[in-house]
Amino acid sequence: MKKLQFLFDSNVEWATAIKDRDPEFFSRLSDQQAPEYLWIGCSDSRVPATQIVNLAPGEIFVHRNIANVVVHTDLNCLSVMQFAVEVLKVKHIIVCGHYGCGGVQAAMEDKEHGLIDNWLRHIKDVSRFHSEKLEGLKKEQKFDLLCELNVKEQVANVRNSTIVQNAWKRGADLSVHGWIYNINNGILKDLVTCDA
Ligand code: CO
Repeated sequence: MKKLQFLFDSNVEWATAIKDRDPEFFSRLSDQQAPEYLWIGCSDSRVPATQIVNLAPGEIFVHRNIANVVVHTDLNCLSVMQFAVEVLKVKHIIVCGHYGCGGVQAAMEDKEHGLIDNWLRHIKDVSRFHSEKLEGLKKEQKFDLLCELNVKEQVANVRNSTIVQNAWKRGADLSVHGWIYNINNGILKDLVTCDA
């Protein structure tokens, strides 16, 4: 059985480098996490939340799934949101999509992909809601626009959740943001920001 020893070696190297710079780093973090941000992003390996905004472990609470979808009844995503908002008291929820998203691309195709088609149905719904904007566009433009529209739609779903609505009713300091990441150059773009 292969044990992936090189990843353990790499881990020791990483932890040692951090401790060399900041000897208290891990003991401080082990006491408690106090992230200001909840990141809802795509599972795509090219879009690692903490790394692309150059923050350290402990600074972003993260939920990722295929195509950064926020489904009204997804207990997994909702539980993450509830914990982040009510217990950690994050100040920002960031929905971050990315151009070139394989989930969005698959949702644009007419062929079958198996079980995942049920998940991608949510993206097909986004394209149905915005069919007029998407109509007549070339394939690449349509792909880019659908990636952006998907982010905005998921921001609306976050805002409409009971968790965010109740937080705003309580007067919590909480904003919801929609961002999109360009995998070709590593740059983020702000699409939308909403406060109570
Ligand atoms: Co993706």
